Amino acid sequence: MTNLASAHDTIRAVQWRGDHLRLLDQRLLPAEEKWLDCGDYTAVIHAIKDLAVRGAPAIGISAAWGVVLAAQRGAPMDQALAELRAARPTAVNLMWALDRMKACIAAGADTAALEREAQAIQDEDLAANRHMGELGAALIVPGSGVMTHCNTGSLATSGYGTALGVIRAGVAAGRIDHVFAGETRPWQQGARLTMWELVRDGIPAKLIADSAASHLMKSGAVKWVIVGADRIAANGDTANKIGTYQLAIVARHHGVKFMVVAPSSTVDMATASGDDIDIELRDAAELLSVAGRRTVVEGAQAWNPVFDVTPASLIDAIVTERGVIEHPTLARMKAVFAA
Ligand code: MRU
Repeated sequence: MTNLASAHDTIRAVQWRGDHLRLLDQRLLPAEEKWLDCGDYTAVIHAIKDLAVRGAPAIGISAAWGVVLAAQRGAPMDQALAELRAARPTAVNLMWALDRMKACIAAGADTAALEREAQAIQDEDLAANRHMGELGAALIVPGSGVMTHCNTGSLATSGYGTALGVIRAGVAAGRIDHVFAGETRPWQQGARLTMWELVRDGIPAKLIADSAASHLMKSGAVKWVIVGADRIAANGDTANKIGTYQLAIVARHHGVKFMVVAPSSTVDMATASGDDIDIELRDAAELLSVAGRRTVVEGAQAWNPVFDVTPASLIDAIVTERGVIEHPTLARMKAVFAA
C-alpha cells in the first residue's frame, strides 16, 4: 500500500493484497467502513457495476487489478477484458486502463508483469493527483470559498483525489478557507462520501442541497466550482456526474469560475465532442428510493441519467497532470494531448 502523505490525506480505498483486491465498500459509507474482498475478476465487475467502487480513476485501477486476477486464475483473457470493459460506459479511465493491460498481454507479459503494470497505473494516478493539486490550487486567490460536486477524492482515485485533491492542496496552502459540497442526488456521493472524506481529514466544509447551488453562488461565498470528470472529449467538452452542467451554467451567470480536474487517463481525444459520449442510464430505483426505502408512490416512473456534459465554453480551466488548459478548445487540447 502506498504511503500516506499528510493528515489531510489518509484514505486508500483500493488496495491490492497479492491474491485479491480489497475495496472500501462505498455503498455503505458513512454508516459502515466495511471492506469488500474481490477474489476473481467477476467480483471486480460486480463491485464496479454496483458502485462498491466508483469514480473514474478508481474504476480504471480496479479493472486493471481485475485483469491480474483473471491471469492468476487462468481465466480466458479476451473474455475477461471484454466483460470488464462493459462494466460501466461513461468513464473512459476504464477503457484506458484495460487498453494498457491488453497491450502488456499482447507483448507477452506474464502474471508478475501484469501485476507490475496495474501497480504502475495505481501509483501514476496518485502522483498525477498530487501534481494536479498544486497546479489547480495555484489558480485560486488566497482566502477563497469553493464548491464541489459528487465525490472526486481518495475514494474515487488511488488517493488524494482530483477536484478534491485541488481542494486538499488549496486548504493546505491557505488558498481555500471554506468548501461547500453538493449532496449529489440521487446516489449522494457528495453527502455520503465527500463529507466523510472532508470531516475525516479535518477540512472545513458545509453540505448543501443540490438545489441551493444558485443561491450560494449568488451570495458571493464561492470563487470557484471545482469538479472532476469521467470523460473529456477532444474539444474539451466534459462528462461528469449529473448536475455538473447546471452548476457550470449557474457559475457563468454569477461570475464564478469553473475548474475541471482530471488526469490524462480521463482525456479521450478519439471522441470529438460531448455529443459522442455514452451517458450511463441507471436503474430508476436509485431515484425512487432513499437509503433503500421507497419514497415515491408505487407505479411512478423515473429517468435516471447519471452523467451530463458540460460544454467547453463554460469551463475556465481543465487541470491535468500535463498542465492547465485555460478556456479549452480543440486546438488547445491538441497542443497538450496529441490526437
Ligand atoms: O457514478 P460515479 O460515482 O462513478 O461518478 C463519479 C463522478 O462523476 C466523478 O466526478 C468523476 O468520476 C471524477 S472522480 C475523480
